[in-house]
Amino acid sequence: MKKQRRGQYLIIAALLVLVGGFITYRAMLTVPSEELAPEARVLAILEKGGCASCHSADPKVPFYAHVPVAGDMVMKDIEEGYRAYDIEGAMAKLKEGATLNPVDVAKIEKVALDKRMPMAKYYLVHWGSQMTDAKASVIAAWARDYRMAYYHDGLTGERAGEPIRPIMAGADVDQRKVALGYELYHDTRLSVDNTISCATCHGLNTGGVDNLKYSKGVAGNMGGVNAPTTYNAVYNFVQFWDGRAKTLAEQAAGPPLNPVEMASTSFDEIIAKLAEDKHYVEEFAALYADGITEANITNAIEEFERTLVTPNSKFDQWLMGNNEALTADELHGYELFKANNCATCHVGANLGGESYELMGLRQHYFEARGTELTEEDNGRYKQTKEERDRHRFKVPGLRNIELTWPYYHDGTRATMEEAVRDMALYQCDVELSDAEVASIVAFMRTLTGEYQGKKLTSDNKQEN
Ligand code: HEC
Ligand code: HEC
Ligand code: HEC
Repeated sequence: MKKQRRGQYLIIAALLVLVGGFITYRAMLTVPSEELAPEARVLAILEKGGCASCHSADPKVPFYAHVPVAGDMVMKDIEEGYRAYDIEGAMAKLKEGATLNPVDVAKIEKVALDKRMPMAKYYLVHWGSQMTDAKASVIAAWARDYRMAYYHDGLTGERAGEPIRPIMAGADVDQRKVALGYELYHDTRLSVDNTISCATCHGLNTGGVDNLKYSKGVAGNMGGVNAPTTYNAVYNFVQFWDGRAKTLAEQAAGPPLNPVEMASTSFDEIIAKLAEDKHYVEEFAALYADGITEANITNAIEEFERTLVTPNSKFDQWLMGNNEALTADELHGYELFKANNCATCHVGANLGGESYELMGLRQHYFEARGTELTEEDNGRYKQTKEERDRHRFKVPGLRNIELTWPYYHDGTRATMEEAVRDMALYQCDVELSDAEVASIVAFMRTLTGEYQGKKLTSDNKQEN
């Protein structure tokens, strides 16, 4: 009798602990006060979510990380978490009230809306860290307001929070410099043997690329990396796959002296050739106090490249409120593009060009490729020599993507279908069905815009 009663008490006590625990657990999931500024609320959610314990160079390792087995799992999460994403910069900016990178905003928003982070094994131990609907909607509202302010492209209403933004036409440029830059861009005298111009590899009638795996420079010399397009390059936060040029002008100083591209031995050699041309002498004198110099040549080319933007694509029309601009299948493709994480790296007006990202984030790309690693495969590492930057590349933009085959830095994907299917696999760990690939490709075809009022086309025919 006595024994039985003790048992009942024990059961009641256990239930009380459970219920109490549950109530405490729920109570700890509260959303930060509305009185805080939006950035402060987001920061509080991230701090409580323990994001920095797995996503920073110097993680806060919990005490149980030293327990055998369980500890190994924790260390593995920390290692994989930091490899996948570094959140420190974003959190520091939230703290300072500084402007975040749009890719950080997209990534934080996506994992919050999917309630993918922090993972269950974390929030079941760290009470209060779990992502809830209420917290996710605080983050989504902040992301929307951030984008309206950051891009100031006038998007309002239901599309104001889209991670992809329309191209705004009409940059403020000096038309006479643009005309001079156009001539220089097409001038073969920038190359050692007067055979190659910028347009040889970045033709305006061929989508701003050469449609070759690797470009051919003077005397048929071949480089070791695929040529990206010059269209919309002005939107990239840095230039080149490894980001080694900060501006378009700095970029333009590279190819003329690159031995496998234009192979001139010095800018003095180029300037001497251009100075024999009366027209150039006059134009440079009219526009620049010091006439023909390296800085002025690259300045004029940059000014011209700032006009290489392609607004008014079908997708932009849809973003700006024209519901008829996209078919149901194209729209479905865009939904898949967002649902599968593509729009966390391919963001903004150029659908990319805002960050460096690891090629092979979720599956081993280079192992699967099976060919020898090249210097170019190192990506950003070439510049920084930091191990974490190996195989990280500036994310290419996806505007006019139907014209810019072949794809990837190594030019190994001939069609959009292959490029999309493999991106899903290597970057997102998703095997898309043929129908899903087709829808995403249909969406990507709506990204072809207009140059000088005419829809961009290519003189090259795709051979497959
Ligand atoms: C216990 C460690 C841990 C915590 C805590 C954690 N993460 Fe992660 N996170 C990971 C791991 C491991 C991965 C890579 C595997 C994956 O994506 O599931 C990852 C992946 C990510 C990615 C990249 C996803 C992608 O595929 O692009 C983002 C972004 C991210 N986490 C954000 C967050 C945010 C925001 C928080 C806090 C709310 C958070 N994480 C909390 C371990 C963690
Ligand atoms: C022989 C072919 C060739 C010539 C000529 C050439 N380029 Fe390129 N261009 C490339 C290749 C290949 C890359 C990528 C190199 C890298 O990332 O390391 C590139 C990269 C670029 C980029 C960076 C785009 C991005 O998204 O990162 C710009 C801009 C560019 N070139 C403009 C020019 C200009 C301007 C000229 C003339 C002064 C020129 N190119 C001449 C092949 C060429
Ligand atoms: C983690 C960031 C990330 C995610 C997620 C991502 N990409 Fe990419 N994407 C990249 C990088 C980096 C490259 C360049 C890779 C290379 O050249 O080796 C790239 C290249 C591409 C290219 C080729 C562009 C060109 O001009 O060569 C296409 C097309 C593309 N991505 C589409 C997608 C699609 C579709 C998805 C979703 C299924 C996706 N990406 C998801 C980072 C990402």
